Amino acid sequence: MSITIREMFDLTDQVAVITGGARHFGYDMADVLAEAGCHLVITSRQLAQAEAAAEKLRAAHQRDVLPLGVDVTDAAQVRALAERALTFKGRVDILINNAGGSPGPGASLFGRKPEEIQELLAVNLLGTIYCCQEFGRIMVNQRRGKIINIASIAGLIGRDRRMYERVGMRGQPVDYAAAKGGIIGLTRDVAAVLAPFGVHVNCISPGGFARENVPPDFIKAYSDRTPLGRMGRQGSADLKGPVLFLASRASDYMVGHNLVVDGGFSIWQ
Ligand SMILES: NC(=O)c1ccc[n+]([C@@H]2O[C@H](COP(=O)([O-])OP(=O)(O)OC[C@H]3O[C@@H](n4cnc5c(N)ncnc54)[C@H](OP(=O)(O)O)[C@@H]3O)[C@@H](O)[C@H]2O)c1
Repeated sequence: MSITIREMFDLTDQVAVITGGARHFGYDMADVLAEAGCHLVITSRQLAQAEAAAEKLRAAHQRDVLPLGVDVTDAAQVRALAERALTFKGRVDILINNAGGSPGPGASLFGRKPEEIQELLAVNLLGTIYCCQEFGRIMVNQRRGKIINIASIAGLIGRDRRMYERVGMRGQPVDYAAAKGGIIGLTRDVAAVLAPFGVHVNCISPGGFARENVPPDFIKAYSDRTPLGRMGRQGSADLKGPVLFLASRASDYMVGHNLVVDGGFSIWQ
């Protein structure tokens, strides 16, 4: 059966859940999926933040958006999220496990406290596992679904910390690399479990994206070290395109894949 390119990327009336969807990457992903036709469930630990983002998304795309307050490190809250998301429209087609990052100051290997390490692993890795469990169950029952985990190139390569230290930045701690490497491995194995039920699990590993708080000297150093000569652009097709691809029928023969979106940073010696 042949379908047009437009149909391939059309997500009209599908339901997408984006953890951490109220800001930065999460908001961008919510934005592109709404533009492609999805109704959304977006979360933040602060309900008011999710509500404010939901208002903006509704105004921009005329889609229904359900904002929820969720801490993904709490398995009971993730279960409640999945139940609420399912009752929203009676289906969940897409899940993006975006909540993560490296909270706290970041530090050298020897400066990390056990509770900081545990928190980072809990947000990035445990939260992603809990969400795969709860939404995986829903998608298996539906016999369809797309799960996109957000990893990082930190899960693939070690980093030259001197690039950060030269501009007074601390860089991400090693436990961040462990969590993101864990997500890449998790993605492959969950994909193997869920693929026979028609559920597609893949992940995206972004490189560094420029933000307003990133020092210009660091942007220059990072750009010089990147084959495409620049950092990723927030709000652009740099991330939105890959997300739409993995959420849509265009990627229907892909499971367990790690899509690296880094301008070539990880391929250059
Ligand atoms: N920025 C980059 O260059 C980059 C590169 C590679 C990978 N990534 C990954 O991309 C994802 C998003 O990054 P970002 O830079 O946009 O994020 P960010 O600005 O650091 O914000 C972290 C996001 O995760 C959510 N979050 C944090 N802890 C949470 C918890 N316990 N429960 C639920 N949600 C939680 C936050 O939501 P609230 O604060 O609203 O609760 C927020 O949406 C992360 O997984 C990050 O590791 C980012």
